[in-house]
Amino acid sequence: MGEFSESKLMEARIYYFEKPGKQNTEKTLELAIKRAEELGLNYMVVASATGETAIKAVKILKEKGLNLQLVCVTYHRGFYEEGKDSMAPEKEEWLRAQGVTIVRQSHILSGLERSISRKLGGASRTEAIAEALRSLFGHGLKVCVEITIMAADSGAIPIEEVVAVAGRGRGADTAVVIRSAHMNNFFDMQIREIVCIPREKR
Ligand SMILES: Cc1cc2nc3c(=O)[nH]c(=O)nc-3n(C[C@H](O)[C@H](O)[C@H](O)COP(=O)(O)O)c2cc1C
Repeated sequence: MGEFSESKLMEARIYYFEKPGKQNTEKTLELAIKRAEELGLNYMVVASATGETAIKAVKILKEKGLNLQLVCVTYHRGFYEEGKDSMAPEKEEWLRAQGVTIVRQSHILSGLERSISRKLGGASRTEAIAEALRSLFGHGLKVCVEITIMAADSGAIPIEEVVAVAGRGRGADTAVVIRSAHMNNFFDMQIREIVCIPREKR
């Protein structure tokens, strides 16, 4: 990994997993943490439904003795079952005790529109953006974009460059360096670097 030179050119590495999925979780977390350290970032935003990916991230950060603020974005209450959370309370308590910020709020790239599409068919412009990100770059990258906005809108991260980590269904397979943005300024968001991503998206 090189620094910016006078000609403003920087060399950085992108790692490619052959396929998406949770088998890539540890490597993704390690690469994300390494890049955050190199760039001196303050926050790492991780998607974690059950808390397991976030717990793995805490363990790696502890081993390395790094001071990176971890933000775990989880599913909104009722995602799987009305009135229920996707994360067991004891896992959430453990994460909070380690200083992890938990974000649980409505999903930005589906929102209320998901209910309308399910009931009446069609799709919203927001869902079209989500599907374009998923299809072209993979589920993980779409989720990185979504959780960074959610973390910014809930006040867990400032508007600055952070590292975001997410995956396909479970675990993690994608990490990006991303300039955060709020929901009402979506086009201010910038994916500054792809740290790792699966080559095959489906
Ligand atoms: C807000 C949110 C939206 C997500 N959307 C998707 C999605 O569109 N497609 C997908 O494959 N996974 C999606 N995920 C799953 C995450 O990318 C990640 O793999 C998962 O939360 C890890 O959970 P675990 O720690 O319990 O394994 C989403 C997760 C969150 C928190």
